Amino acid sequence: MGYFILMLDQSIRELESGSLARIAAAESLEALEAVRVEVLGRKGALDQFFKQMGRLAPEERARAGKLLNGAKQTVETALETRKRQFAEAALHARLDREWVDLTLPSPGPRRGHFHPITRIQGELEDLFVSMGFTVLDGPEVETERHNFDALNIPRDHPARDMQDTFWLDGGNLLRTHTSPVQVRGMERLGPPLRMLAPGRVFRNESVDACHEHTFYQIEGMMVDREVSVAHLIYFMKTMLAAVFKRDVAVRLRPGYFPFVEPGFELDIQCLICGGSGCPVCKQSGWVEQLGCGLVHPNVLRAGGIDPEEWNGFAFGLGLTRLAMMRYGIDDIRHLQGGDLRFLEQF
Ligand code: DAH
Repeated sequence: MGYFILMLDQSIRELESGSLARIAAAESLEALEAVRVEVLGRKGALDQFFKQMGRLAPEERARAGKLLNGAKQTVETALETRKRQFAEAALHARLDREWVDLTLPSPGPRRGHFHPITRIQGELEDLFVSMGFTVLDGPEVETERHNFDALNIPRDHPARDMQDTFWLDGGNLLRTHTSPVQVRGMERLGPPLRMLAPGRVFRNESVDACHEHTFYQIEGMMVDREVSVAHLIYFMKTMLAAVFKRDVAVRLRPGYFPFVEPGFELDIQCLICGGSGCPVCKQSGWVEQLGCGLVHPNVLRAGGIDPEEWNGFAFGLGLTRLAMMRYGIDDIRHLQGGDLRFLEQF
């Protein structure tokens, strides 16, 4: 074995160990690629050695070839290994960043809930159904006959001005109260009857803390033989105790509504200020809660019922105002405002 060969052997080994050291020290894929190009690439260091092999004797050539191929293999393997280490390190770094604690309790799905008005409506429906009442629905677009005429409010009667009406083309209107459902109820059920009609009503009013153009009412009617004011008072007290879950102070005043005779206005002591005076009760300590009375004979007749044989009571109240009282809401505009910060409190 000649001197040249000894030199060649040593150079190859040096190239190999030098390359392995550089690979071990490399901190990036770019650094690894630089080593690959320099050592394994075309015109790289190993290539230079392969080119010199032509000058060797055949048996020397075989030996040197084996040595070179071994070095090539070793460097390639080292490059692959180091590359895999980089990939694993990157993966671990990501897992460290993106871990999830599976033992944490879940926040759970966000659940909605009923609007305060819907809730009171549902409670009143349940209460009255338990007392033999039927819940009825009526149209929000009403005829003049149902909203006014059949309720003993003739065309030239000043009572029509009590309710500022949204009139529609063609003579229909947006119902100004739930009382027209009384007429539909009498037509549909016939006497004796007990009906409850919650629903949305509309008035052409300017909006302030106590007035909205759109609000909710609930109407009740009972028709039977020998119905008296005592029956009416019993049902009203039962209803208010259920809504407020306690006894509330009430007062009954004579009140005028064309569809009842006698007619009353029932006030409750203001639950927001306890009677001392606040914006909701307009400083009076009392809040008008509902209108009621004994059904006017003309209304019974308009509903196809003989007032000589039957009589009844009726009442109507603002569900919106009821909700305000129960939850201590001091501005009616919150209820239909759609602000989640308000709604999520219930
Ligand atoms: N409809 C009346 C209103 O909107 C409320 C009302 C008063 C209803 C007396 C009645 C009643 O049934 O008897 O102001």
